[in-house]
Amino acid sequence: MAAEPRSMQHVSDRSSRSDGSGVSIVAMRRRHLRAITVIEKEVNPHPWSMNLFSGELRMPASRIWFTAIEGNDVLGFSGLMVTHDEGHITNIAVHPDHHRRGIGSRLLLALFNAGVEAGVMDVTLEVRASNGPAQALYSAFGFAPGGIRKGYYQDNSEDAIVMWANCIGSGAEVDRRAVIRDRFVPDPKVDPDAR
Ligand SMILES: CC(C)(COP(=O)(O)OP(=O)(O)OC[C@H]1O[C@@H](n2cnc3c(N)ncnc32)[C@H](O)[C@@H]1OP(=O)(O)O)[C@@H](O)C(=O)NCCC(=O)NCCS
Repeated sequence: MAAEPRSMQHVSDRSSRSDGSGVSIVAMRRRHLRAITVIEKEVNPHPWSMNLFSGELRMPASRIWFTAIEGNDVLGFSGLMVTHDEGHITNIAVHPDHHRRGIGSRLLLALFNAGVEAGVMDVTLEVRASNGPAQALYSAFGFAPGGIRKGYYQDNSEDAIVMWANCIGSGAEVDRRAVIRDRFVPDPKVDPDAR
């Protein structure tokens, strides 16, 4: 994710899977932000503030944010900054109690689908060199390392690996994501996110 930064459509994503049942991916709203900052503090050594997230929501022309909810609980979130045909994943996190339920994958699927609709062709991100779980998730979506930003993270001067996913609207990339969608979002008929 970006160390710090330097509205789109609602996506219903109901799943009938036992592990993900009841989880929906929706457009991020201000009312989600308190819970989102709690998750952010749990997972990020240099957490984004409420003001930072609020500012993002005030830029709907260039920012796409999603929240994962189950009942009244906020379980995760993801964000994309759009600049012309390039997307930058600025943040993504899932509450630690809900890892490995496919929620991170569903949040990324929603960003990719919204990005393609917004004309994005290539997507980039930074990830801590030590963050194996996130790198594994990104690899599954077709991201590959493109470079290193030395000492990028302010809290411990850790290096960032810059990753890129190119031509995200191509048939091969759509097919790659369809495999992920079929694992974690099994009923496309009730799920407009599953295209
Ligand atoms: C990275 C993160 C968002 C993944 O969310 P998640 O909901 O647990 O991910 P998913 O359940 O969709 O995982 C999909 C796949 O990613 C890979 N993956 C995810 N977590 C992994 C882990 N801890 N170890 C190895 N592979 C992992 C696996 O291939 C997994 O598929 P599998 O469960 O069938 O093996 C989550 O670990 C998180 O919030 N981490 C803290 C915040 C963070 O690091 N954000 C990224 C900043 S760049």
